[in-house]
Amino acid sequence: MSSMRFVRCFSTRVNIARLTCPKALSISSTYSLRPLVIPNLKNAYSYSTQQGEEKTGGGKGAKILLGVAAGLLGAGAGYYYFNGTDNVLEKTSKVPVTKDIDYQKIYNQIADVLENNDWDDGSYGPVLVRLAWHAAGTYDTVSKTGGSNGATMRFSPESDHGANAGLKHARDKLEPIKQKNPEISYSDLWSLAGVTAIQELGGPTIPWIPGRKDADASTACSPDGRLPDASLGAPHIRETFGRMGFEDRDIVALVGAHALGRCHTDRSGYKGPWTSSPTMFTNGFFTELLNKKWVDKKSIDKKWKGPEQYVDKETGELMMLPADMALLKDKGFKQWVEKYAKDEELFFKDFAAAFHKLLELGIPRTGNEKVYHFKRTGES
Ligand code: HEM
Repeated sequence: MSSMRFVRCFSTRVNIARLTCPKALSISSTYSLRPLVIPNLKNAYSYSTQQGEEKTGGGKGAKILLGVAAGLLGAGAGYYYFNGTDNVLEKTSKVPVTKDIDYQKIYNQIADVLENNDWDDGSYGPVLVRLAWHAAGTYDTVSKTGGSNGATMRFSPESDHGANAGLKHARDKLEPIKQKNPEISYSDLWSLAGVTAIQELGGPTIPWIPGRKDADASTACSPDGRLPDASLGAPHIRETFGRMGFEDRDIVALVGAHALGRCHTDRSGYKGPWTSSPTMFTNGFFTELLNKKWVDKKSIDKKWKGPEQYVDKETGELMMLPADMALLKDKGFKQWVEKYAKDEELFFKDFAAAFHKLLELGIPRTGNEKVYHFKRTGES
């Protein structure tokens, strides 16, 4: 059993966790990691000021016209045509695009299953964020393949890609919610689960747009090797995220999600959490990265037989991947690590924008879609 006590505060709960969770108080006073202040969520994030729904453009009339057009297209052609590419996702699921789905209800259902004392640090949130990211992060801006459309990770070989090890737990966790709400596609459900987990664990409001369609066949799987390799450095990270269309600022913001969750020896081979509050979305990844002294795990744990990774010298309980350390070593990345460590509000704003963009990669849009901003559970 680890000697370090990890903070386990949840969801709506997390919005007030920093004041009310006794564990948050105890860990913070021991390690002085981050201030126990409730950020004013409504003011803090530019995206979150309007709860409820919003449109990117058009009005009710436009929506009806769009619905009629989509219906005619669906009936006549029997498939959807994506981006003018020869993407195999042309053949898609039977999820109707025109049906009004209560996404806030599904958000709430996901939020309700996050907390689980038998799982890791007590929340499925982190692994759901990883599922949403791995489903979307396969996108290639040149060939316009990959991305969250299709939910192709349901199929082999993508489900068996090394990078996706352990994500079956996340997919299985969401299955009963899919059964309860057959009208939502798996691809929408997975991306919505990522949004739900981030918000419920205290992160920013992420604008979300539905409309992803599931692929019918495993032939739509993304090729292996599109997700970043944790053992590599800055050039690899830039190249991998560059392929998705991200720049230094977005990349650093996105990796800040490592404030959540932990590494597992039976999945990636690495071990441990990045922060001492792995169920709270904060800028803690950046403050730890900058302020702790990181040493090769082998230097303090002679028995370690796993891949090269770093641990904090003080306790040996927190970890960093070689790819995380690359954010410190590379000047272009480091300037953002420093900014986000100083300014959680800036991090939340940039993360929300980058994560939204990630979930949108490769999804055909007209610009008239409804954009959802979900209420956290317990928020009126
Ligand atoms: C350079 C880029 C990245 C690398 C090399 C990387 C690598 C990893 C590795 C090796 C794990 C451990 C998996 C396990 O053993 O369970 C992990 C976990 C995780 N990653 Fe990343 N990752 C990267 C970027 C991201 C991004 C962009 C996000 C989200 C926006 C993200 C979210 C997560 C989360 C939440 C976990 C914890 C999962 C859990 O607790 O089960 N990562 N990542």
